[in-house]
Amino acid sequence: FMNTTSPRIVPDTMAGHATAAAILRSGGLVAFPTETVYGLGADACDDRAVARIYEAKGRPSFNPLIVHFADLDTLKQHVVWTEEAEMLASAYWPGPLTLVLRKQPHSPISALVSAGLESIAVRLPAHDTARAILREFGGGVAAPSANRSGQISPTQAQHVADSLGARVDAILDGGPCKVGVESTIVGLLDKPLLLRPGGITEEDLARTLGHPLTVRHKAEAISAPGQLMSHYAPVARVRLNATDWEPGELRLGFGDVDCDLNLSASEDLVEAAAHLFDHLHRLDAQGGSVIAVSPIPHEGLGIAINDRLSRAAAPREG
Ligand code: TXA
Ligand code: MG
Repeated sequence: FMNTTSPRIVPDTMAGHATAAAILRSGGLVAFPTETVYGLGADACDDRAVARIYEAKGRPSFNPLIVHFADLDTLKQHVVWTEEAEMLASAYWPGPLTLVLRKQPHSPISALVSAGLESIAVRLPAHDTARAILREFGGGVAAPSANRSGQISPTQAQHVADSLGARVDAILDGGPCKVGVESTIVGLLDKPLLLRPGGITEEDLARTLGHPLTVRHKAEAISAPGQLMSHYAPVARVRLNATDWEPGELRLGFGDVDCDLNLSASEDLVEAAAHLFDHLHRLDAQGGSVIAVSPIPHEGLGIAINDRLSRAAAPREG
């Protein structure tokens, strides 16, 4: 499937979903909305299609991908299901949770998806458009966030077009994403391990499992596959926990503060997560050199927000 001009924007209609599924079947790349962020999808069983994801993102190939399914029965064919997976799936799927499970040895999912690991990350997204495309396609769709590697994640179709351009064959425009930060990732290869904070909070997961989760520490996370430290990086430098503003800074506020854009004037962390990437995109587009960000409470969804912000502020290579 070749595309040499700008990406094709596909409408959020039944015909659009059929077009998206047909492109996936022919080995193409389709960006589609999920409740968290837009995903850059390819047929998870097609080596060449999966390789095109890495190429389009400019992503280091050791960073494994999440596979998305429309229904639990299809998903279960590819993984070794466990009791804890059952508990978490029945509580949160469809929804912003990804589980890392052992891969079924006979699963036809491309080895490129898990970048050499014997596990795969799977999820059942809660977005109607994503579900419609996945149902129409029938199988697993590998989809990282639909942005160039290291850039800010996309929560709108236009963000995808700006970041990937003609590297993606089609973008299904389903409007802005409701959750706004990526899924929470829980490893279930051994004791449940929180690998990435996200749309479902650690407290919720602990309540469902009946005990606290082990949390992978940042230092380990950096050396583990796929957890590069500088990530979600705007062009501007990011200054965290700004309680006052310096001249010339682009001001990203939280709460009752005077600023250029406010994540949530009413200090609502759900609203702040939904605004996070869009506001970073918009401030960055103004071309300033520093984006200063108000402190965000480190609780609930604030933990996922602070994780993304600290990566956006991390020292960069080169
Ligand atoms: O909300 C989301 O999860 C979005 C939407 C599109 O579903 N996707 C997303 O994908 O955030 P991505 O590729 O940006 O992040 C995938 C993360 C990576 O950090 C990777 O290291 C981890 O999932 N991952 C994938 N497979 C894994 C595995 N087998 N073991 C451990 N971590 C894995
Ligand atoms: Mg990403």
